Amino acid sequence: MSKVFVTRQIPQPGLERLKEHVEVEVWPDQDPPPRSMLLERIAGCSGVLTMLSDRVDDEFLDAAGPNLRGVANFAVGYNNIDVAAAKARGVHVGNTPGVLTNATADTAIGLILAAGRCFRPAIHNVEKHQWRNWEPMMFLGQEFEGKTLGIIGMGRIGLTVAKRMRGGWGMRILYTSRSAKLQAGRDLDATHVQLDELLASSDVISLHCPLTEQTRNLIGEKELAKMKPNAVLVNTARGEVIDQMALANALANGQLFAAGLDVTTPEPIAADHPLRDLPNCLILPHIGSATWQARNQMSMMAAVNLLAAMKGTPMPFAVSPA
Ligand code: DGY
Repeated sequence: MSKVFVTRQIPQPGLERLKEHVEVEVWPDQDPPPRSMLLERIAGCSGVLTMLSDRVDDEFLDAAGPNLRGVANFAVGYNNIDVAAAKARGVHVGNTPGVLTNATADTAIGLILAAGRCFRPAIHNVEKHQWRNWEPMMFLGQEFEGKTLGIIGMGRIGLTVAKRMRGGWGMRILYTSRSAKLQAGRDLDATHVQLDELLASSDVISLHCPLTEQTRNLIGEKELAKMKPNAVLVNTARGEVIDQMALANALANGQLFAAGLDVTTPEPIAADHPLRDLPNCLILPHIGSATWQARNQMSMMAAVNLLAAMKGTPMPFAVSPA
């Protein structure tokens, strides 16, 4: 019987579907398997269901061996996978697009509001028993009604954030993207602009681009210096898109108002990284897609991707090399 290795515990729907057809081994711990253990466990497998933290490269593909038919990433992002290397060996690669759009967009909006309204220091104040009075001058934040939202990367998630903030807060939408998006212009009156214009004009900037060689460190010292002092920067994409040390300096110097990060590099961010201690930086442990609805569907999509590959048919949610 064909064997699949699942590198972490995931919701049941996908596991049950897999178990109807193949032998399934699930890594039982909360922490991922150490690399050497992962390489050992995938040996001889026909499929591997990977997380965004599992590096799939030539070493991985060598360790799995010639039985490997498919790698299904339990994520929409697949920057952890060398897709070209997999394809060169006839290994199909898939992801889970669409089903986590709403969940991730909601997380971005939560971060916009929470970072912009100083939730981190305010919660800290209560937790540390520092709350003494109603304070007219503490935790003063930003309002968003009628302001400008800059979306970097107008894919599904970027568009959904723009739609919600346009409909709910009447924000003007600017965006960068490789090409202008018809739907964004038509439905949201959104304007396709160059990055510099977006940085200088936006009150909120939300990152939704994939991590590629072009977007790595896209937001660095130069870009942060162009932002408005009241700007709120939110990242639910990948940590590597921001130069984190530059962000820490900019936040400490008041070059922008606050940041909300659902992603960092590495994950978790280093224990002594200055971003951890800045009251105007709110960090979540990469929970963008963490709803039951999204994760159940992600598990099912990853399972059907693997089963298709093992049958020798194209994955329904396949990815191509960048
Ligand atoms: C993804 O799917 O790429 C997300 O980052 C996981 O929540």
